[in-house]
This record gives sequence, C-alpha cells and structure tokens, in this order.
Amino acid sequence: MLVSATEMLKKAKAGHYAVGQFNINNLEWTKSILLTAKECKSPVILGVSEGAGKYMGGYDVVVGMVNGLLKDLDIDVPVALHLDHGSYEHCYKCIEAGFSSVMFDGSHYPIDENVAKTTELVAAAHGKGISIEAEVGSIGGEEDGVVGMGECADPKECKAIADLGVDFLAAGIGNIHGKYPANWQGLSFETLDAVQQLTGEMPLVLHGGTGIPADMIKKAISLGVAKINVNTECQLAFADATRKYIEAGKDLEGKGFDPRKLLAPGVEAIKATVKEKMELFGSVGKA
Ligand code: G3H
Ligand code: ZN
Repeated sequence: MLVSATEMLKKAKAGHYAVGQFNINNLEWTKSILLTAKECKSPVILGVSEGAGKYMGGYDVVVGMVNGLLKDLDIDVPVALHLDHGSYEHCYKCIEAGFSSVMFDGSHYPIDENVAKTTELVAAAHGKGISIEAEVGSIGGEEDGVVGMGECADPKECKAIADLGVDFLAAGIGNIHGKYPANWQGLSFETLDAVQQLTGEMPLVLHGGTGIPADMIKKAISLGVAKINVNTECQLAFADATRKYIEAGKDLEGKGFDPRKLLAPGVEAIKATVKEKMELFGSVGKA
C-alpha cells in the first residue's frame, strides 16, 4: 500500500539519513526502483513529473501501475507516489487520482500568492492523508519544461512557507536540474544552515541530485536534508547501457530485438544507480 512521505522523512531527518526520490517514466523504471528498494530494505519515493504522467497515459494509469506492482512484486518497504514540481491544478488531479504525496512548485509566484495557494493545497492534501512538499527559491536548469533561475532561497520565506503546515520543504541552495556545468559554484551550505535553523524539525529536500559529489551530499544531510531527488542520473545510465547493447549488435543476434531483452541492460543500470544512491544517502536497511 502506498504511504504518505511524512513519517519516512521525519524518521530520516531524526536518523541523519535521506530517502531518495527517483523519477519514473514507465514500467521498467518503476519496477527497477521498487525491486531495488525491496532488496535494499529502503523506503523510497517515486517521483512523477507532469510530463512523465502524461507520457504514461495519465495519473490513473500511474496509480494503477504502481499499486499493481506493489502487490504483485510483494513490495514490503514504505513507498510514496509523489507528484514532482506540480502546478496548482495538477496537485488537485493527483490528490484525486490516488497519489500519496504531492509537490506544489509555487516558487515562481510572488510570495503572497505562493502562501495563499500553498495554504489551500495543504488543507486539501492533509484532508486525504497525503503529504505535501513546497518550494522556495528556485532550482536552476530545466526539468520536463519546468525552468528555474537557480537563485538561493530566502530563509525567512522558507520559515513562512514551513509554518503553513507543509510536510517537507525544498529550498534552492544553488542546486541545478540535469548535469552540473564545469563552472558550478557548489551548494550554498550557508543558506542551507540558515534555512534549517529557522525551520527546525522540517525535513528539507535537495533537488537536482544528479552529479552532486558525495561529500556535498553528506554535508547536506548533516544540515537537515532528508529527501534527495534523482532523475537525470537514471536516464543517463539507462541510455548508456542501451547504447552499448545496440552498438555491440546484440539486438541483431537471435531474439535480441525482443523488448524484454533490449531493455534489460538499461533496467540493470537503473537498479545499480538507485542502489548506489540509497547507499550514499544512508537509507539502506531503514525500512
Ligand atoms: O525533481 C527532480 C529532481 O530534482 C531531479 O534532478 O534530474 O538533476 O537528478 P536531476
Ligand atoms: Zn526537482
């Protein structure tokens, strides 16, 4: 059964580790992540962007697929199904469809409007036992059409949004979606520290988890990050493994063109990436 992400993230923050959010795109992605979480005895959050939800056919398809896999694969670890960077309208759609968590990305609204919309969505989500994430500041780069400028969050705004009753908070601290450029300045631990001091027990979320060096991940966790989002890294691993399979001509040997064979190296690559992240984040054995 899907669970809200609230309890798993409170436990993670208190235990000084982080739970990974891994974005899903299809059956292979979802199955790989769930099986790895089971093998690692780790809680996990499945992230769904609006674009990926549309690609998979719609939110009802996503909820049906995930619930079916939880049952048929006998997944015995806490799993949350979370709308990633959701608009106001799509938060409502996912709450109705049976997601167990939503993110309202109101970071592009003026603070007053962000506050008003977040307040309303907190009540709607909590009314159904669903957790809700909010964002302050913006995550740089682009993910599925969501473009951010990458400015660091104002800790006082973080406190104002945290006080609205959201369950976890994403603060922009110089993190970027996609690959980090060679001239990236690194995470602003000064901002993160200030945000944590003002928001207390609130689990903090680090977006743009792809390619952040291990020492920065560990420092971020020590400063209150309890959820880390990873998307691009699984995509790169999948593409790389699939390319190698095709370049080696394996799709032309026997029944190598069968999608169950053609997609298998990519599936193994996603599993390896997710396992590596769970080990780095410290969530292995925490289910
Ligand atoms: O919301 C999802 C992410 O923040 C993932 O970022 O693609 O850079 O790993 P990433
Ligand atoms: Zn993100």
